[in-house]
Order: sequence, then structure tokens, then C-alpha cells
Amino acid sequence: MKVLGLETSCDETGLAIFDSELLAEGKNGLLGQVLYSQIELHATYGGVVPELASRDHIRKLVPLLDELLAQCDISKDEIDAIAYTKGPGLIGALMTGALFGRSLAYGLDVPAIGIHHMEGHLLSPLLGPNPPKFPFVSLLVSGGHTLLVAAHGIGEYEILGESIDDAAGECFDKAAKMLGLPYPGGPNVARLAEQGDPLKYELPRPMLHRGLDFSFSGMKTAVHNLVKDTPGSDNDEQVRADIAASFQHAVVDTLVKKCVKALKQTGMKQLVIAGGVSANLHLRQTLEQQLAKIGATVHYAPLELCTDNGAMIAYAGYQRLQAGQQDALSVSCVPRWNI
Ligand code: KG4
Ligand code: ZN
Repeated sequence: MKVLGLETSCDETGLAIFDSELLAEGKNGLLGQVLYSQIELHATYGGVVPELASRDHIRKLVPLLDELLAQCDISKDEIDAIAYTKGPGLIGALMTGALFGRSLAYGLDVPAIGIHHMEGHLLSPLLGPNPPKFPFVSLLVSGGHTLLVAAHGIGEYEILGESIDDAAGECFDKAAKMLGLPYPGGPNVARLAEQGDPLKYELPRPMLHRGLDFSFSGMKTAVHNLVKDTPGSDNDEQVRADIAASFQHAVVDTLVKKCVKALKQTGMKQLVIAGGVSANLHLRQTLEQQLAKIGATVHYAPLELCTDNGAMIAYAGYQRLQAGQQDALSVSCVPRWNI
């Protein structure tokens, strides 16, 4: 079964084909993928402009599909099903992928299914070299979400904790802005932090001892004050690197401690990290070290599948279709939607 996956919830137009026949050959099932990032388009504005995002998805969807089919060396008649991101995300951007996917499925007379963006992220480590087995704990950390989930099976997700305010990725993006780094902030803060001392400045670890929820808005204020009060934060590269490293360390420390707590609470031994922030190397390394101490393992997607992409949507679609699900002909998108 070949499933075309379409991701258009924010500023990446991602298309991929998952082919279940490849699983029999011991592969991860990914036949091919293309990804077009709108980063340059939005960079001048310091963040994603929803209207521009929708327009750009429309511009790119058909040419990208052609490129993907050529890459996979198949014709569109060989597509057996279509999965598109149904939410959460920017409503206009979601509608472009949903309408394109639903209409293409109608034309090809194949089933279509709308996928929860965070389920795509959650399942993406199953496409990685060291896939976990259900049940596992999943830390979903992206620009819009910070969630700890107990994943018992496909579609069986129990929320253990979540951010009561900002998402971890959003916090990275805001800290980047305060340091004058370009959008998207996460990777740029991580790069600057490489040369810095993570213990130079003490930043808060909000809600560390209160359950499995997170709070990152206080961290934002703390970084704002640190940048404002530290001489050299605008022109001394070492000072800037120390601030970035201390900030990154505080966020990672908070995330890791909550993950350890979630594993202990559920008795599970596997942790999956997914979403844009799971690309952060400091987070990955710290988790590897800390989880080894409690006999647990950490699993993540290949770097290129950590941020938004079509492959995770194609894979989640395949799993849902296998379970007998598909969507009606009418298209509906859900901009705010709990997993
Ligand atoms: O999952 P994603 O691509 O899009 C959303 O669904 O939000 O996540 C994007 C987020 C952004 O906030 C970005 O700054 C962050 O992930 N991010 C990172 C890194 N790479 C991306 N944050 C920290 N370190 C990174 N290496
Ligand atoms: Zn995402």
C-alpha cells in the first residue's frame, strides 16, 4: 500500500510516500519525500505570517507532487491512499493541504484521511533506525506544543502533562529574538550555545517539583532580564554564547527531569522524543545519560524527520487506514485540537 502524506500546517510544505511493501524488505517504508521550507519568506517578519504561508503552500503543492512522483519513479495512479494534516495549525495553511489531498483522492478514487499533526510527530521515531515498541512515554516538543504522553498503541494516547503556557520551541524562538538571532530561533540558539558555558548564569526551572506539567513563560521573562542586565549581551560573542548555553541548559534540564519522572510514574522503559525541539543535540545527549542511569532508552526520529515533514503524516495515515479508518468526502480542519 502506497500512502501519500501531505503536511501544510505551518511553514513547511512536506510531501512523502510511505510504501508498506518496503517493510517486508526490512526498510522503514519511506519510498521518497520532498520538503519545501518557507523560512526565507517569513524571516523578514521574525515569525510565520499565516496568509503568506497559505499562499505559498498553494503555489508549491502541485510542483512538489510532480517532483516526489519522479523521485519515487511512480505515477499518481499508483497512490493507494492520501493522508493530510487536519490540525492543529494555521487554519488557512491546513485548508490548502486538506483540500488538495481530499480532491486528489476523489479524483483518483482512493481513500483520504486527516491526521493530527502531533500524532505524526509522536509516531515519527518509528521511522528511525532504533524504533521503540508500544507502550512508551513520548515527549512532544515543538513550536506550539510541550506534551508528555503515555502511548499505549496507535490512537491510544494518555496525556500525562503539558505546558500551561508557552511551548518549549516557542521559548527557544523568543530567546533567540532577544539575542537578536534570526528566525527560526531554536537551531540558532543551539548553535550559539555550543561555545558557551551552560553554568554561567542561573535561570529558573519552573514547576520542577509540581507533577508533569510545564511552564515556560517565566523562563522568557528571566532571559529578557538577563539580556537587559548583562553588559556585552548585544556585542560580546562569549557573553552571548554563555547566555544561550545557560538558557538551553535550563530548558533541557527541566524537560529531562520531567521525562525521568514520567518514566518512573508509568513504569515504562522507553522514551520517545519528537517535534522540532527533539532535534536539539544537548537534549538528546542529556537524555541518553540520564535515562541510562534508570535503565531506560531514548528513541528519536532521524534529524530530517524531527521538524515538520510529510513522511510522518504518510506513516500515521498508513497506520490509521490499516485500522479501518478514513474520512468522509466533506473536508474539515481543526486548528485547535487535543491529541
Ligand atoms: O515541529 P516543528 O517543526 O513545528 C511545529 O509543529 O511547531 O517545531 C519547530 C520548533 C521551533 O520552535 C524551532 O525553533 C524548534 O522547533 N527547533 C529547535 C531546534 N530545531 C528546531 N529547538 C531547539 N533546538 C533545535 N536544534
Ligand atoms: Zn510540528
